[in-house]
Amino acid sequence: MLNRHQFLEKNGLILSLAILVTVSIGGIIEIAPLFYLESTIEEVEGVRPYSPLELAGRNIYVREGCYVCHSQQVRPLRDEVERYGHYSLAAESMYDHPFQWGSKRTGPDLARVGGKYSDEWHRQHLIDPRSLVPESIMPPYKFLNERELDYAQVEAWLKTNRAVGVPYTDDMIENAALDLKTQLDPFSENYDAFIARYPKAQIRDFDGDPRRITEMDAMIAYLQILGSMVDFSTYEAEENYR
Ligand code: HEC
Repeated sequence: MLNRHQFLEKNGLILSLAILVTVSIGGIIEIAPLFYLESTIEEVEGVRPYSPLELAGRNIYVREGCYVCHSQQVRPLRDEVERYGHYSLAAESMYDHPFQWGSKRTGPDLARVGGKYSDEWHRQHLIDPRSLVPESIMPPYKFLNERELDYAQVEAWLKTNRAVGVPYTDDMIENAALDLKTQLDPFSENYDAFIARYPKAQIRDFDGDPRRITEMDAMIAYLQILGSMVDFSTYEAEENYR
């Protein structure tokens, strides 16, 4: 036995291969079950792909690096659940590419910020955080309110997400630009078709100026949907999650 080990130790390449084989056995045992266990990602009612306007807001969130200061994951710990609400479910970020869980909380977690404040609060807060929270160290994002939203690429955004597994249909991609405008206009003729494609989407002008489609519109539409897709009054955690 020892002799054979000597052989291994004297041949660097074979030793490396042996290490690789040994280590991967542990890896496979840990990782492989996740691919077929149904509980890895539970199907949860209410989670749908982002509407085009919400997706535009999400793109801006990523562009501006909001994740540098904000996480989007409520951990299953008592203090977090009491502060932010129900802990995050895997399914709630299943359509997030890339996910925005984050690793740093300079500001509060945003996974459940949807519905916590009014649109006007968000607008004012993004324009000048210290006008609402005097001790805030969040930078102002006033330009979001001034910049027209550039959504010439909206179909491509949906297609790209579809390429990585988000179930956008041809219908959704074809109507992406129209749907984006519809979400800002409760009187649109496309209202019914839009809400059928994106159930429970919130339809209104978000930045307080119906004449313009701004980056602020998209950002607030995104913030207001965060964490509000799952109806937790009807959600039952599976036994092994309790
Ligand atoms: C430098 C760190 C930093 C960055 C970057 C940052 N924030 Fe914040 N944010 C904070 C801090 C600190 C607070 C808490 C004080 C406050 O409410 O202003 C906060 C609060 C918030 C709140 C209120 C949360 C609550 O539950 O009260 C929202 C919403 C928010 N930020 C959104 C954003 C968005 C959207 C972006 C990107 C455009 C962003 N933040 C970028 C630090 C940051």
